[in-house]
Amino acid sequence: MRDTLIILDFGSQYTQLIARRLREAQVFCEIFNWQTPAADVMVLQTKGFILSGGPSSVYEANAPTLPDYVISSGLPILGICYGMQLIAYSLGGRVAAGSEREYGDTQVEISQNNSLLSAGSYRVWMSHGDRIESLPQDFSALGTSPGSPFAMIADEGRHIYGLQFHPEVHHTPIGRTILENFAFKVCQAKPEWTPTNIISDSVAAIQALVGDGKVLAAVSGGVDSNVMAALVHKAIGSQLISVFVDNGLLRSGERESVSAAMRKQIGAAFHTVDAVSEFLSALRGKADPEQKRRAIGETFIRVFENQAQQLGKVDFLAQGTIYPDVIESRAPERSAAHKIKSHHNVGGLPDKMALKLVEPLRFLFKDEVRAIGSLLGLPDELVWRQPFPGPGLAVRCLGEITAQRLDTLRAADAIFTSELREAGLLDQPRPPEGSIAQAFAALLPVYSVGIMGDQRTYQETIVLRAVSSQDFMTADWVPLPHDLLARVSSRIVNEVHGVNRVVYDLTSKPPATIEWE
Ligand code: XMP
Repeated sequence: MRDTLIILDFGSQYTQLIARRLREAQVFCEIFNWQTPAADVMVLQTKGFILSGGPSSVYEANAPTLPDYVISSGLPILGICYGMQLIAYSLGGRVAAGSEREYGDTQVEISQNNSLLSAGSYRVWMSHGDRIESLPQDFSALGTSPGSPFAMIADEGRHIYGLQFHPEVHHTPIGRTILENFAFKVCQAKPEWTPTNIISDSVAAIQALVGDGKVLAAVSGGVDSNVMAALVHKAIGSQLISVFVDNGLLRSGERESVSAAMRKQIGAAFHTVDAVSEFLSALRGKADPEQKRRAIGETFIRVFENQAQQLGKVDFLAQGTIYPDVIESRAPERSAAHKIKSHHNVGGLPDKMALKLVEPLRFLFKDEVRAIGSLLGLPDELVWRQPFPGPGLAVRCLGEITAQRLDTLRAADAIFTSELREAGLLDQPRPPEGSIAQAFAALLPVYSVGIMGDQRTYQETIVLRAVSSQDFMTADWVPLPHDLLARVSSRIVNEVHGVNRVVYDLTSKPPATIEWE
């Protein structure tokens, strides 16, 4: 067990960023919904709490409240925005609506040296409407901003701190120092969350869970499942059987290339299963994104259960689920924010499953997965492959899925990616800021009129998407060279049956997501 900071989520869209900043400082932390029972939270080696921001007002009926065990634990607490207001309100201070919202870049003046910050003037990022009007007993004001008389507060005796601004976002340059000072100086957590420790902890945990049982590993050829399989293989060697499912939702040539690469890489038994017809029939008649995701999650599990039965004596299914999958699927104990999409391997799982899950990457962010992948000896081209969603082309083929529409999408996507590759813009290890982290085509069920060789056409639309991103939680669209876009567009309308229009997606995440569904 490692020193842990607990982040209680009160519904902020930035909660994951708090966790990322701490993990970057090699401090293990876990996010829990503020309503999660104390018994589920306090089993960890807890060194302190961070209370996230959130959209509510503390004085509203049904607003999230501060769980009693947080204060009574006597451990250090850092409240951010709503989290700070909640501390003030719960301990007897007064919080009210400010006369103006304070939003965006602001300057705070810190009046005295304290454990988190030295006195001085700092650029910070604010996003709040309410503000503290009076402090609880034993608290002092440590900082002010133009809109907040209490931009930073503390009861240093009890190690309780509050910030009206957000230290977790890049727009607060001093934020990283604040969080590190809280973790190391105030909570005295040790920086133990290193790739070497993650591997040794995971290997021990997998061995303890699995014993001498057999494990089926669901591999897709992507980074997450490859790293997962390498890790499980390190833990249990020949007790592992890897299975790659052709679900009919793969890109052009993917079944062949993944099978060849996996045979070479995974030093364990490897099977490819053809389940194209099962997936297509489970998806028939479904156009809603969440319905599609659930149908795919359920079908995957049934295919693996079937496979396990055929192989005999398999008790476990290993998946490459990573932390953002869990958080974005909004498992209720993990998050109080709105659900964006159900990742097929978390929110899309059926209630009843014959196999027990092994998910060694469940608490890791993508960059942590890549770091341990490299340490486990996986080659760069695999560790830095662009992500491909588990539900595959299903989430890029909007509307109802048919074999023919999938063929159309596959052909357009192959043209786009081959042109990008030819131009040297794809598959760069450690892509520099601003270059492509993920690029693909999606097929839209939007018909438009066109003209081709004197004939009227009425066909569907392909949208091209290319984004840069470090962590896939935020992303920017990439301005591709015009001549490349022109070549791709002309090739797609000329070579791909069923498409007469190509458009380019100019939205960042947020407000869009990277995938279209
Ligand atoms: P979004 O579309 O939410 O995607 O901005 C963020 C990253 O996650 C990938 N993605 C998924 N990966 N199962 C996965 O394994 C899924 O259900 C899923 N949905 C999105 C997406 O490709 C991007 O890299």
